[in-house]
Amino acid sequence: MTTPRHFLTLNDLSRDEVLSVLTRASELKRLHREGKPHASLPGKVMAMIFSKASTRTRVSFEAGMTQLGGSAMFLSSGDTQMGRGEPIGDTAKVISSMVDIVMIRTFAHRDVERFAADSKVPVINALTDEYHPCQLLADMQTWLEHRGDMRGKTVCWLGDGNNMCHSYINAAKLLGFHLKIACPAGFEPSAEILAFAGDSVTIEADPKLAVAGAHLLVTDVWASMGQETEAEVRKAALEPYQLNRDLLSLADSDALYFHCLPAHREEEITTDLMDDPNSIIWDEAENRLHAQKALIEFLLQS
Ligand code: CP
Ligand code: NVA
Repeated sequence: MTTPRHFLTLNDLSRDEVLSVLTRASELKRLHREGKPHASLPGKVMAMIFSKASTRTRVSFEAGMTQLGGSAMFLSSGDTQMGRGEPIGDTAKVISSMVDIVMIRTFAHRDVERFAADSKVPVINALTDEYHPCQLLADMQTWLEHRGDMRGKTVCWLGDGNNMCHSYINAAKLLGFHLKIACPAGFEPSAEILAFAGDSVTIEADPKLAVAGAHLLVTDVWASMGQETEAEVRKAALEPYQLNRDLLSLADSDALYFHCLPAHREEEITTDLMDDPNSIIWDEAENRLHAQKALIEFLLQS
């Protein structure tokens, strides 16, 4: 048996592999929009394991598998034996003997690594407390479609140094852009993940200085799933980092902005930016579908 390719962080793919997945993603988007069949994976089955809520991730993976000619099953960890303490490794051995690919959204990143270690089929990280690499594929596809090559560009992350921020750090190193992280003390990303990225990433506490000249501004919720009880404390600390028209005016005149959604309007991003007719946030969300279809093809055909 060959060892399966997993996608637990962006670092599981080379730069060339990511770019080839993104090219295929745009091709799949075109085929989908033109109503042209692209059922490249007939009969393939995906298990989708969720320990956290989701709208985009669940719908995009399930719709994507159907459009590729396969199917996907939703497994809430609370409704399976996983929720009653069956060891992750045992679960991985069983599920991976019955399906072709697995997607997991959970809390501890270590749990996804444990599952992958005992899985006979590819495992995709669909968000952990530490990373959200699938969102980065959609974001990078969106950037490529609107602006082209990422190399040499400056991206500014505004707010919490969270799972999305960590995946942006990985993307900066892999794809050759500079990432400026604007966050207050105490909300910095993991020192270990930062160290890995070297000089691709810098931290600047002042949001006005951080966004100056940036080509892309990115933000996310201030309290991620699992941090609900800290919401008020986080809001107080992160308020100066709100993505709004004033901050955007300090960035490059052609700057784009992203939000992975769901958004808390008037907290980390203003409603006028969400609803601006030129906002590409909705395009970014749609690209979850196309980018993940390309990723699934890549992992099953590697
Ligand atoms: N961006 C994202 O992963 O959205 P969901 O939580 O709705 O899946
Ligand atoms: N940082 C957010 C992303 C949601 C898609 C969270 O983990 O809740």
